[in-house]
Amino acid sequence: GSDDVQVVESSDSGSKFQDDGRVKMLILFGSQTGTAEEYANTLAEEASRSYGFNAVAVDMVDFDPEELNGEKLVVFLVATYGEGEPTDNARDFYDWLKESSRDKDSLNGVQYTVFGLGNKQYKIYQAMARYFDARLKDLGAERIFELGEGDADADIEEDYEDWRSRLLPEMAKIFDTKVDDNEQEVAEPKYELKFENPPAPRPNSSSPPVSPNPDGKVNLPPFDIARGSSEPDQKTPFFAPVLVNRSLFTVEHNLNPDKRNTVHIDFDLTGSRVKYEAGDHLAILPKNPDHIVQRYFDRLGVDENKADRMVVSMINKKDLSKGNYFNRKCSLRTAFSHYLNLTSVASKKALKIYAHYARDPAEQKELQMLSANTEEGKELYRQKVRDECATPLDILLQYKSVQIPLNHFAETISRLQPRYYSIASSYSYDPTKVSICVAVVRYNAISGGKLVEGSASSYLERLTPGQKCYLYVRKSNFHLPSDTSRPVIMIGPGTGLAPFAGFLQQRRSQKEKNKTLGKSMLFFGCRHREHDYIYNQELEKSHSDNIIDNLELAFSRDQNSKIYVQHKIEQKKDEIWNLLSDPKKCIIYICGDAKRMAKDVENTLCKIIGEKGDMTPDQVQLFVDELSNQGRYLKDVWS
Ligand code: 2AM
Repeated sequence: GSDDVQVVESSDSGSKFQDDGRVKMLILFGSQTGTAEEYANTLAEEASRSYGFNAVAVDMVDFDPEELNGEKLVVFLVATYGEGEPTDNARDFYDWLKESSRDKDSLNGVQYTVFGLGNKQYKIYQAMARYFDARLKDLGAERIFELGEGDADADIEEDYEDWRSRLLPEMAKIFDTKVDDNEQEVAEPKYELKFENPPAPRPNSSSPPVSPNPDGKVNLPPFDIARGSSEPDQKTPFFAPVLVNRSLFTVEHNLNPDKRNTVHIDFDLTGSRVKYEAGDHLAILPKNPDHIVQRYFDRLGVDENKADRMVVSMINKKDLSKGNYFNRKCSLRTAFSHYLNLTSVASKKALKIYAHYARDPAEQKELQMLSANTEEGKELYRQKVRDECATPLDILLQYKSVQIPLNHFAETISRLQPRYYSIASSYSYDPTKVSICVAVVRYNAISGGKLVEGSASSYLERLTPGQKCYLYVRKSNFHLPSDTSRPVIMIGPGTGLAPFAGFLQQRRSQKEKNKTLGKSMLFFGCRHREHDYIYNQELEKSHSDNIIDNLELAFSRDQNSKIYVQHKIEQKKDEIWNLLSDPKKCIIYICGDAKRMAKDVENTLCKIIGEKGDMTPDQVQLFVDELSNQGRYLKDVWS
């Protein structure tokens, strides 16, 4: 942000003060994976502790927007999700802001700033933060600090730290609050760790005792299971058995040195309330590998008694409303396995705290340097931590003198978040199961040393039939039309094929019900016909059974020059233009890599529209926008 910083007169109206005389700072967050939430919580904590504010972090979903005009100082931390979408918890707030009937001065007197969390690899960078900023201004609110933007594709933590470290002193100046100069950022853990003996089995209860087990181990599950008529969700997922888990690549390819793999998994939905439509997303709650959890316990000095035979909870010392840092009471092993993100890169904040607990002065100095907010510190962190994909465990094993209490350690670890996969099956075809297709993320760290594995995809790859996994469905708008006669164009190279595997099942069941099927074209691409042509039998059979009319395949590495899906699209431009300009209202679906593929495909489509429709670039853009607005141009893309 190059925007000017506006300084306001501090003419106290009095009402901005809380009962305790401190200025209230409301921090509203819109978070999908928990980053904005974490930032909001630490910001509230620091603003209150060291900058004299009474700051509270509130989830947007829990805030009534009608109350906004009663606030004086509001900090928005908003993530942009997918293609310029609000996060689930910000949706209502966003819709409220958008209402056109709103008075142009309805937010007069509200002072605010915004930090956006986004990813430059997506087409519309920071759509939400920028919209919030513009719209709040539009409604009479006044921005009093620059709009901050963090790029998850580069170093979002650094972007945020830079913004935050300037924000708080500036706010303290504007609102003339009492700043605590002896700021001790890492001194105290905020949560208290409590160990209790497991509840004794109830003697008169007819249900079997849940804990302890005969072996004395606590046996409380990490999540409640959805009951009654409610559909499973993040808090109450379904614990689904794996039916099938198979590689979609040929064996010889799996032996390739780059170790690429893509797996197909079927989960059994029998007895669940899970409902979905082909094109929705399956949210998977991943679990850390047992041996990693054990290595953390060994390093942190957690013995078996503490790990397995006691019930643990972690409660905020000051703010009981924050609840249990671990979702619910369970064993420490369960908490470490299901709640803490143990395998991603150690954050700077964590390193700072480790430095505090280092007994060896040389190690302490090094950790301080790694976490310093100086140019040198940033460079060191990039080289030694980020590029090496060093996890908290790697750091603690390297800096052996760090003796950190368990509660403070847990606070330095972000929470394990659900991962979303496009569903590759159709409920109407077979309601007893749901399928996903997962590209397993595995690569060597930049330095070439460490083998890095995606925590969720490698967890899924390891699941064997009979094992169970926590999951729920997240709805999308990426669906086949209810009018089955509308033509569809599907573009999905690589695992971008996943939702279309579901679409094809759905069309098959529509055909069996004697529905009229509109024309369909499917564009798929991969490296080699013989190696990574996933779902080849299903695709070819769909083609021969007239479930798909055109099956267009681009094998990028089977010849000297690259052939991609967009080249196949270009070859079919007459047909595509006929469908696009036809009032039968065909729908275009694109799924897969957002970084290059989706952009290149879109450029090709624009070129076809311009050429065939004889339009200027501006007219083409309007045409595409119109398609989008009519729900005829749908994307499910990721990076
Ligand atoms: P490549 O790896 O040979 O470059 C699935 O990953 C397929 O998408 C692969 O065949 C891959 O080709 C291809 N691909 C890579 N970049 C692409 C792009 N910009 N547009 C379309 N397909 C692409």
